[in-house]
Amino acid sequence: MTAPSPSARDEPLVGRAGELDDLDALLSGATAGEGVTVVLEGEPGVGRTRLVEALQGTADLLGIEVRTGRAVGPAAPPYALLTDALLGPVGGRSARGGEARGPVVTELADLLDVLPDDRADAPKRYARADELFAALVRRHGDHGPWVLVLEDLHLADACSLRLLAGLAGEGTLPHALTVMTTRAVPHRAELAELVAAWTRAGARYLELRPLGPAATVELAQSLLHAKVGPRLRGVLATTGGNPRLVVDVVRTAQACGVLEQRDGVVEAVGTGWLDDLDRVGRAHVAHLGTGVLALLGQASVLGTSFVVGDLAALAGDSVTECWRTLRHGLAAGVVHARGDRLVFRHDLVRSSLYAGLDAGDRRALHARAAWALREAGAPTHVVSAHLERAR
Ligand SMILES: Nc1ncnc2c1ncn2[C@@H]1O[C@H](COP(=O)(O)OP(=O)(O)OP(=O)(O)O)[C@@H](O)[C@H]1O
Ligand SMILES: [Mg+2]
Repeated sequence: MTAPSPSARDEPLVGRAGELDDLDALLSGATAGEGVTVVLEGEPGVGRTRLVEALQGTADLLGIEVRTGRAVGPAAPPYALLTDALLGPVGGRSARGGEARGPVVTELADLLDVLPDDRADAPKRYARADELFAALVRRHGDHGPWVLVLEDLHLADACSLRLLAGLAGEGTLPHALTVMTTRAVPHRAELAELVAAWTRAGARYLELRPLGPAATVELAQSLLHAKVGPRLRGVLATTGGNPRLVVDVVRTAQACGVLEQRDGVVEAVGTGWLDDLDRVGRAHVAHLGTGVLALLGQASVLGTSFVVGDLAALAGDSVTECWRTLRHGLAAGVVHARGDRLVFRHDLVRSSLYAGLDAGDRRALHARAAWALREAGAPTHVVSAHLERAR
């Protein structure tokens, strides 16, 4: 079990009162005996981990045990996620002492030690491990209500995903609030199967949306313990309300020494942090493939929102091909669709992709954009602005 860092849990949770209330109400349902399963999804850095940490706070107050497993990557050993959640040391004040040494756990621990990486090499041992993990998860609620948090399913080992998908067929886990968190990308067939199986079993789907403008500023102010000035607000607005980007913008400004405080208001001064900000933006999308990033880089030349047909003309691709590539950016929440237009969700990301273009390539792209937009009937001043930048 991975214990949440005390520092993150000490900071206030901003703008999530509604979501936390929903989870708290589901937790009460679980204590009453009904099992509830929640799939919590959202773009990278939107605050899934922070929200389940807050839920852990409520569970601690109620004396309800929380078991958390965090996936670390598909190449992790078989059952790594479930092992982390169920066989690791118990965190949280309400852990049930002694239980971790039961015969099922002992047999499982011994079995995992001798499990080859390939299921085909020891099908009986794998079948036994499936059986024991299923019993452990299903029977855990016999001792009272509990919360099972399975973090980052998109990174989970295939054995854990398969087993969890199978468990859905028997319905929700008794006396348990099960929270499974995941990013929308990368797409994995075994994860899609698991989510479909739990959806059929009545799981709730909670999409964690980015913070609104007021909560975005509130988060920055809570980190800086001061009000923020208009220029810094302007930069915060480019985060699209993504809490990780907000935290990174604030920390970058602090690290670069560009913050000045006057009359209780903190303001960003100068341009000494812009390269570092670009790095923040690029890091946010680094998990996307190079093809997607290259196309989004070309799109960045067209501005915060663009028509996909214009991007296709600029990139020399068909519209269908562009959509095929861009759907990964859509799934990752980097752009969102408005009819035949796409809009960058975080202007910070768009400007960082733009800044990351080679200067010669950028000029050539502006020249192509001028041509594509003129062909599409864009107004003269828009075309001229691109021609200016093509020089
Ligand atoms: N509502 C919030 N209030 C205050 N801080 C928040 C909030 N949501 C997220 N944060 C902070 O933003 C950062 C990113 O949040 P978190 O790690 O929870 O996101 P995530 O969705 O779990 O990201 P990942 O996709 O990497 O799993 C963390 O520093 C976290 O403490
Ligand atoms: Mg997380």
